[in-house]
Amino acid sequence: MLKIIHMWVNGREVELAVDPRESLLETLREKLNLTSVKKGCGVGECGACTVLIDGIATDVCLYLTMWADGKHILTTEGLKSPTGELNPIQQAFIDEAAVQCGFCTPGLIMTAVEIVGSGRKYTREELRKQIAGHLCRCTGYENILNAMEKLAGC
Ligand code: FES
Ligand code: FES
Repeated sequence: MLKIIHMWVNGREVELAVDPRESLLETLREKLNLTSVKKGCGVGECGACTVLIDGIATDVCLYLTMWADGKHILTTEGLKSPTGELNPIQQAFIDEAAVQCGFCTPGLIMTAVEIVGSGRKYTREELRKQIAGHLCRCTGYENILNAMEKLAGC
């Protein structure tokens, strides 16, 4: 039986009828066309599906859509300013050449949004631990850390 839920996705209120077994990854990609949210492993190991749920970076391949009822979801599609400028974190990833094939990038950027939003400053080693849940198949970790250090480094 379908369940009706309400949530806010990138600032827009959304009402959907969802299967109780449906993951938020499936809903965001297949019903809302938010294809920045990637399916990598599908079992919570790679971080490619990370979005913010009420400000917390979350792997949504393991998160049922019905749990998102009443919550605020942010994906990289929601990061641009109203006038179309990139978020400073997106710009830092470009400036530091922290993108290769790009598959891991949206998930890493959403974790970076959470880190920068905390207002805390991190050593490079601490940042390395913060992104431990993300796998980059292209192994460009040093440039990713350079980008994150620009905005959240000590
Ligand atoms: S697809 Fe969700 S953690 Fe890999
Ligand atoms: S840039 Fe290719 S997986 Fe990270």
